[in-house]
Amino acid sequence: MTRGGVDALKRRAAEAAFGRVRSGMVLGLGTGSTVAHLLDLLGEALREGSLKDIVAVPTSVRTETRARELGIELIALHERASLDLTIDGADEISPRLELIKGGGGALLREKMVAQASDRLVIIADGAKAVDRLGTTFALPVEVVRWEWEAHVGFLEGLGAQVTPRRGSDGALVESDNGQHLLDCRFPEGIADPSAIEARLAARAGIVESGLFLGLAHEAFIASDQGVEHREGSA
Ligand code: 5RP
Repeated sequence: MTRGGVDALKRRAAEAAFGRVRSGMVLGLGTGSTVAHLLDLLGEALREGSLKDIVAVPTSVRTETRARELGIELIALHERASLDLTIDGADEISPRLELIKGGGGALLREKMVAQASDRLVIIADGAKAVDRLGTTFALPVEVVRWEWEAHVGFLEGLGAQVTPRRGSDGALVESDNGQHLLDCRFPEGIADPSAIEARLAARAGIVESGLFLGLAHEAFIASDQGVEHREGSA
């Protein structure tokens, strides 16, 4: 499919999820090219006045910048006990709505915002739907800068092929939180995401992983056949 074709699908997924937004809501705003459409729709509705009294928490500097440009009122996460609804993209979506996220490097803030939200709605094009997590996308893992190399052997022990994320200049990428990202490819996919998540969570120096388990309530996945709506168990 052409890039324009994929982008049109992302737009359709965003439009479907946008139907969940109501005036007065406290929103979480995800990160990525699919969420960019959602931001445009939200900005337009606020300008036209079809939605009002919305405040939002961005999950990245990139989303924060774009939201400000569109006139979306932003607040900090700690200003509210909970958020009504977060809409975010994903890199992979399993049939049970387990996710791999973090292709854009925003996984830590995305997970913090998702966990603070009453509902998490995922928007994606159909290429993101997989039968088993890890089959098409490497799992991003955010690690503290100090001695980040010390985690490579540990992650390999979990079955991963580890690639430190670098920019086009060859330098290690820094997340919005000033930390590094290790992309972990699992050649057979991730057979037991909960077990991997538990091992990662128990390891000092690993800040967060891009596994989002039991967090998504629903997903809108757009393909040439239309927009599929999936309900999760969260
Ligand atoms: C960023 C993310 C994104 O939601 C994910 O990478 C999907 O991005 P896109 O909508 O551009 O395909 O997790 O950290």
